[in-house]
Amino acid sequence: MIEQLKANNRAWAERKTAADPGFFKRLVGQQAPEYLWIGCSDSRVPANEIIGLDPGEVFVHRNVANLAPPQDANYLSVLQYAVEVLKVRHVLVVGHYGCGGVAAAVDGGRRGLIDHWLHPIRELAHDHADHLATYDGGQPRLDRLCELNVMRQVRNVAADVFVQDAWARGQTLSVHGWVYSLATGLVNDLGVTVSAPN
Ligand code: CO
Repeated sequence: MIEQLKANNRAWAERKTAADPGFFKRLVGQQAPEYLWIGCSDSRVPANEIIGLDPGEVFVHRNVANLAPPQDANYLSVLQYAVEVLKVRHVLVVGHYGCGGVAAAVDGGRRGLIDHWLHPIRELAHDHADHLATYDGGQPRLDRLCELNVMRQVRNVAADVFVQDAWARGQTLSVHGWVYSLATGLVNDLGVTVSAPN
């Protein structure tokens, strides 16, 4: 199995070089992505592939249930580097319908460390309990919670001091909220883009 992966890698590198002999040489020089992707670790939601971008074009941070917690050093390090050094122009917070992390946050199960990681989603569901109760059945309710989670993470990113400082410097930066459908391969733009302090 692992040998197959290495063979795949060699074939991929050859295809890239054949199509564009300077491809890898350019990337060695620098990366200049215009986008930061904050998405779920789910194997069915591969950032570059979904938005049709090559290596070098999107800076990627993924974790379970696409969270942007204001105390998470990993996420904050990625955000600061993307905003202050790479100067990305767009942050894409991308959730997905059918997210196992979102479902696990509210199913009452006990799994260990992940229960702590998912705590913000449990709080979110609690805050929106009345609204969520208007959705028929488990799956529509969970899908709505996936959307609410993305909206909440967009607010987290937009409220972060790195982003606020970038806007204060006059830097062009927008934070978008999308939810990807595993069933269709299409993203749903939630229309919650933030491009200035509010
Ligand atoms: Co997920």
